[in-house]
Amino acid sequence: KKVVLAYSGGLDTSIILKWLQDEYNAEVITFTADLGQGEEVEPARQKALDMGIKPENIFILDIKEEFVKDYVFPMFRANAIYEGEYLLGTSIARPLISKKQIEIAEKMGADAVSHGATGKGNDQVRFELGYLGLNSEITVIAPWREWDLNSREKLLAYAKKNGINIDKKHFDENGNPAVSPYSMDANLLHISYEGLVLEDPAKQPDENMWLWTNSLEEAPNEAEYITISYKNGDPYAINGEELSPATLLKKLNDYGNKHGIGRIDIVENRYVGMKARGCYETPGGTIMLKAHRAIESITLDREAAHLKDELMPKYAKLIYNGYWFSPERQMLQASIDETQKKVEGTVKLKLYKGNVVVVGRESEKSLFSEAHSTFEEDEVYNQKDAEGFIKLNALRFIIAGQTQNK
Ligand code: ARG
Ligand code: SIN
Repeated sequence: KKVVLAYSGGLDTSIILKWLQDEYNAEVITFTADLGQGEEVEPARQKALDMGIKPENIFILDIKEEFVKDYVFPMFRANAIYEGEYLLGTSIARPLISKKQIEIAEKMGADAVSHGATGKGNDQVRFELGYLGLNSEITVIAPWREWDLNSREKLLAYAKKNGINIDKKHFDENGNPAVSPYSMDANLLHISYEGLVLEDPAKQPDENMWLWTNSLEEAPNEAEYITISYKNGDPYAINGEELSPATLLKKLNDYGNKHGIGRIDIVENRYVGMKARGCYETPGGTIMLKAHRAIESITLDREAAHLKDELMPKYAKLIYNGYWFSPERQMLQASIDETQKKVEGTVKLKLYKGNVVVVGRESEKSLFSEAHSTFEEDEVYNQKDAEGFIKLNALRFIIAGQTQNK
């Protein structure tokens, strides 16, 4: 077997690497992605080499720009939110990782792919629907569903036995979780925390769990104003400065971090059935969502906007559940993208202690007609027209009032 493993270089995927070599006698190809998680990816190379991986079997790719341009931005065109809160930071990254693994597998003549997601979560579904959606022949190896290393102690013992370096960041000398006890996932869009104290939905996590944003108390007492410019529904400039997709999102993350924007603490419904408590920081994404809605508010037709909003929960659920590469997601995307052709212009925002406040919006393509909406005298709108409009809309009430409701 030749297996492409999604390899972070961390403890869990290092154990998986070793396990694939032992259990499957596999030739392992590692794939490590820089998605803007804020950790160095290069150390994964040495770790892989140390575990006997051939240099030509180690892939470390910076895919930040592709991630933001082809995954995050299309999703934000839809204003996608899962269950009213979650901006889908992990969900949207999985399909891209799957795609890269399949590309590497095809290039290297590998017949299998593997990932480090457990058998209890959403990520396994997202990875594997991605793999099979792109290559129906590929074999999937999901170690968490196969092995008996189902506790921290067993994992630790396996790592020790096999000389796998146990990161002091995760365990103290007693083998107990140390500095960072949460199950975390990060990329340019968000960082997530699950597990441990969070498993009791009634308990508030410690302030030091949050790694990416200032607390409301720490956020500056002074508001800051920024502008974001849009074209075809995508942001392309901040304060008039044009930026690449990944650079733009990074910059918005910095603003969001400073002003304590984008923390949520939720209980969500996993696709596999259970509820899970998660905390998320999506600083730049929270700003982008607000700004995108503001630019749409002056450039989108009412009925197109409303239909788009009706489709949104369905679209968000497809992404949450792992159906990025499905025909139904592509179909929704095509209609969403069609609505974005005239979504352009600039939004002015005030950032202050966790708040993103829209204070202005303008566009060459604006549908806002002051002549029509003014409270002052006008020459374009005849108020008498409204009388017939209301009368006909009320006709059925009038008839029902004269008959059934008498
Ligand atoms: N619950 C979130 C989701 O399903 C985050 C998952 C985080 N994944 C992880 N491997 N820590 O999208
Ligand atoms: C996991 O179970 O691997 C992480 C959580 C999730 O996928 O929902």
